[in-house]
Amino acid sequence: MTGLFITLEGPEGAGKSTNRDYLAERLRERGVEVLLSREPGGTPLAERIRELLLTPSDEPMAVDTELLLVFAARAQHLQQVIRPALARGCVVLCDRFTDATYAYQGGGRGLPIERIAQLEQFVQGELRPDLTLIFDLPIEVGLARAAARGRLDRFEQEGRGFFDAVRHAYLQRAAQAPQRYHVLNAAQTLEQVQADLDALLPRLLEACRG
Ligand SMILES: Nc1ncnc2c1ncn2[C@@H]1O[C@H](COP(=O)(O)OP(=O)(O)O)[C@@H](O)[C@H]1O
Ligand SMILES: [Mg+2]
Repeated sequence: MTGLFITLEGPEGAGKSTNRDYLAERLRERGVEVLLSREPGGTPLAERIRELLLTPSDEPMAVDTELLLVFAARAQHLQQVIRPALARGCVVLCDRFTDATYAYQGGGRGLPIERIAQLEQFVQGELRPDLTLIFDLPIEVGLARAAARGRLDRFEQEGRGFFDAVRHAYLQRAAQAPQRYHVLNAAQTLEQVQADLDALLPRLLEACRG
């Protein structure tokens, strides 16, 4: 038995967490066993690494440090949570995963894609998400939603150019492997986004049974 690994991606305020919970409800009411998680984090130790990544500090974080911390947290999360859940046959719905590393550390910070790909291979082996939902929306719409949530974290404090590069990197990855990605228009009303997710459900349920 192997489960299904679905990741939700997109910038701050795109609706990843809201729609992860929505999708979980829709799947659970059809009898599917769902595990919810997020990155960076997902275990107590990985959540401590998350704090390091998100908390603004006086000492600037080297870009390589940031990249290695992201993958350190991921290694922990995979070993403790994701791989065991998939082995039990769960559908894992994860708020951000390695596509976020390509978008933020690759696109946003400008790290070479090859270096990220090396770490991806090292930490994940052959494991990749079965499906990645990209919640795409204009940068200012997402930032306004995130700002309404309160204090900005270390990434949310970045400028417009950073988020342009993040968005571009996500869309580029989706365009390169369209069978693995589904891009949603996250600027629509929540009802419209969730109607789009409802339309995806039959495909997901089929994959669960598959
Ligand atoms: N389609 C939408 N239209 C308007 N507001 C939304 C929409 N989707 C989410 N929100 C709101 O925007 C905020 C950020 O959503 P959230 O799911 O936390 O985004 P993310 O996890 O991607 O940062 C929340 O207050 C949420 O209720
Ligand atoms: Mg969120």
